[in-house]
This record gives sequence, C-alpha cells and structure tokens, in this order.
Amino acid sequence: MLRDSVAMFSVAPMMDWTDTHCRYFMRQLSPSALLYTEMVTAAAIVHGDADRFLRFNEEEHPLALQLGGSDPDWMAEATAKAAGYNYDEININVGCPSDRVQSGQFGACLMASPALVAECVVAMQKETDIPITVKSRIGIDDSDDYAFLQAFIEPVAAAGCRRFVIHARIAILEGLSPKENRTVPPLNYERVYRLKRDYPELEIVINGGLASPQQVDAVLEHVDGAMIGRQAYHQPYLLAELEHHFNTAWEMPSREEIVERMLPYIDRQVADGTSLNRITRHMLGLFAGQPGARAWRRFISEHAHREGAGREVLINALNAMPAAA
Ligand SMILES: Cc1cc2nc3c(=O)[nH]c(=O)nc-3n(C[C@H](O)[C@H](O)[C@H](O)COP(=O)(O)O)c2cc1C
Repeated sequence: MLRDSVAMFSVAPMMDWTDTHCRYFMRQLSPSALLYTEMVTAAAIVHGDADRFLRFNEEEHPLALQLGGSDPDWMAEATAKAAGYNYDEININVGCPSDRVQSGQFGACLMASPALVAECVVAMQKETDIPITVKSRIGIDDSDDYAFLQAFIEPVAAAGCRRFVIHARIAILEGLSPKENRTVPPLNYERVYRLKRDYPELEIVINGGLASPQQVDAVLEHVDGAMIGRQAYHQPYLLAELEHHFNTAWEMPSREEIVERMLPYIDRQVADGTSLNRITRHMLGLFAGQPGARAWRRFISEHAHREGAGREVLINALNAMPAAA
C-alpha cells in the first residue's frame, strides 16, 4: 500500500491547477500516480470552511494534501481535520517563494528555520499516522550549497519525516516572481542525488524539469521517486505513457477513451451545478502534439463556458478535430 512505499511518479501540487476536477481527470490517465492537492493553508482549514478545502472524490486516491503554514498548533489542528478525510500523505510546503506566502512565514523561507519545520512535523505526527512529508527546494538565496540543504534535512528527518520531495533548484526570495523561480535558478539534480547517497534511509523524490519517461528513468537511477508538474498539466497524456512504462500490463487508453471516461463525471458535476468550463479547462492539453489539437482547444474554449453546456461540448470538440473526422 502506498502509505508505506514511495510512488515512482507523482504529479506536483500546483495552485489553481491541481484542483479536484484536474485530479479526477489525471486519475483516468494513471491509476497509480500519487496526486497532490493545491496548497491549502492551515489557517484556511482551521478558520474557514474546512470541508470545502478538504473533500475530494474517492477515485482520486492515492492523494496527498499539501499544507502551507508554520505554526505547529495550527498545522496540527489542520492535520487532525484532514485525517478524517483519509488522505494518503500530508505534505508541508517549504518550496513556494511567493510574497504572500513569505509574509505568512511559510513556504521556501522556512528552509532557513529547520527547527520550526521539525516542530511542525512532530506536532502533526501526534494527530495521525498518515505520513507527514516535506517539499522543499535545494536552497534559498545565497544559501546555495549542499551543507545548507543538509542542515535543513537532518533536523526534519530526526523529527520523523522520512520522505522529502525536492525541487532541484534554489528559490530566490526577493526579485523573482514565482514563475521566474521555476525557470531562472538552474536545476541541480546532482545535489539531490548526493542527498540520497548520504541518507539512503530517507525516501527522496526529485522534482523539476522532468518531461518524458526517459528522463524519469534516468533520475530513478539515483532517487526513489520523480515528481512532475508543468509537463503533466500541459501534456497530460504523458501520465498514461508513464503508467504504461512502469506497468506494461496496463493497456494505454486512447485519448478519445479518456474523454469518454470523463463523460459520466461531467454529467454528475454539471447536474450538481458545476460549470463545464471548470472541468474542461484541465483537459485542453489532452491532444497536445497530435493532429487536431488546436481545433480541440479552440472548440472547448469557445463553448464550455456557455450556459447549459454539458457533455455534448466534448463530443462536438472531438468531431471538430480533423483527425477524428
Ligand atoms: C501553476 C503552478 C502552481 C504551483 N503551486 C505550487 C504549490 O501550491 N505548492 C508547491 O509546493 N509547489 C507549487 N508549484 C511548483 C510545482 O509543484 C513544482 O515544484 C514546479 O513546477 C517544478 O516542477 P516542474 O518543472 O515539473 O513543473 C506550482 C507550479 C505551478 C506551475
């Protein structure tokens, strides 16, 4: 069971992207990928409508909740509430560089406060036996060396965190936007590999810039798992390719079959008042790189937001594609 073993590949937490509809769609493409929620702040769960932030479809398992925060009491309370929803993992965000997150004293700036992250891990573990994991960078600002990464990992591991997801570039906390912080600092996989060599007892998952099964194979020579973000969102069929790559007995569904599998879900959601657009916006990349991809995107973009739009939009979008005709 996944709780006890690391997933070979996972889809990164992405704000505004990996919502429940996106995850349901991705699950059709890969039965085994570990999926992550968008980051949810501990404050939102403690003080807000927790159920709105925490509920998900059973089909989304295996699913990790990503929490943002640094107050051990709040992180513990949010964990206690989340435990009732049966997530497969709860992950602490120590990688996000945005100003909003920094002013809340969490995200990547926490790499400079390993004792506080360790305190959060301990407080959270008291509430549940769901694994508590950490997603970080390899460094921040001028702290761009292996010793800094070690000084972060060691106390957090000593607090009981066994699994670390590491985005293999530093975060620059001032002067770069979150988007630039995902492209400008160079990737340094070697530093993550070294961590696995030096701490073989830890589960190390690498993240950043992975775009193909071959690249995933290459990193898995060195670490336990690979996390994929933007490429999985923009070209989601990669998830089916990865699933098949690791589990050749699993037959890859065609892209059209994936659309078909989404139809009953879409019917239910639309009947419950969800705008079709909120689901189909995650499906725009399904045919990326294929003939007709533009027609698919364009048809959905033009029709899915309209009042009363339902499954017929997807069927007509397939028919609008030259290759499918
Ligand atoms: C739109 C977007 C939103 C993101 N939101 C989060 C987030 O909520 N929490 C987090 O830890 N990382 C977040 N990230 C970073 C990704 O999880 C990942 O670390 C990063 O994109 C690098 O992986 P990639 O090169 O495979 O995309 C976000 C990235 C994108 C593109």
